[in-house]
Amino acid sequence: MTAPVAERPYVTANIAQNSQILADDAFLNQLMSATENVRRLETRLSGTHGQLRDLIRSLGLETGFYLVLVELGNISARILVHNGIITAAEAAVEGQRLSGPNAVKLLDDEASGEAVIAIARLRPYLYQWSPKMTVYVKGIDLQHRQLVRAVNNLYLSLLSGKPRSVLQGILDFLAEYTVFHFRSEERFFEKHGYPRAEQHRLEHRKFVERIEDFRMKYRTGEARLNIDMLMFLADWIRGHIMKSDKDYGEWLKRQGVVKTV
Ligand SMILES: [Fe+2]
Ligand SMILES: [Fe+2]
Repeated sequence: MTAPVAERPYVTANIAQNSQILADDAFLNQLMSATENVRRLETRLSGTHGQLRDLIRSLGLETGFYLVLVELGNISARILVHNGIITAAEAAVEGQRLSGPNAVKLLDDEASGEAVIAIARLRPYLYQWSPKMTVYVKGIDLQHRQLVRAVNNLYLSLLSGKPRSVLQGILDFLAEYTVFHFRSEERFFEKHGYPRAEQHRLEHRKFVERIEDFRMKYRTGEARLNIDMLMFLADWIRGHIMKSDKDYGEWLKRQGVVKTV
């Protein structure tokens, strides 16, 4: 006799809280811009219990991130799926919005008729470090890669419905690592007499103030991690490396302090 196999959940435990991200249009736009490919299909939903679970399984979404858009009669739904598990869901029915478990219930139990489904595979990162970002100092490039990795980790954790404690941990790492990294750069400026050090230090200080303020507010529950904050962090880091950090990189190169590879 074989023991019954526990069924793998197909909806994440904190879907209610996590589904808030789908109510954010800016977040949806960001997701759509991170689409690798989109496929469409038409299917018929019978309105019987378990149909959403069956649909998700039949779509072959076991690995990776997907945004599934369902249009059926007067229902329009958005579902975020990570490794075959629904991490966020939202549905609009005649202008009324259902979020999280309520949206899942509607799609799993009640919705019936011809449905048009679009499945967008999402890139599992916001951007990646590229050789264009080099400052010609290997140690600093490695630190920049680490910062980019932390930002992508925050994005992925948000998409995959990780609990707040995990997001807080990544945010703490990002804030602390940023301070360490800025100190490394500033020591470098002093050592080599970089002429635009003061202005650069000021940029660092402003960023530290902003991230510290946010992480304290996040810790006390006063702030939520939304796409605006995530994109601020991601864009600032990329923008600062590409402009201000590249400036000292090029300067060091001109001084003959660093060798280009
Ligand atoms: Fe930097
Ligand atoms: Fe910098």
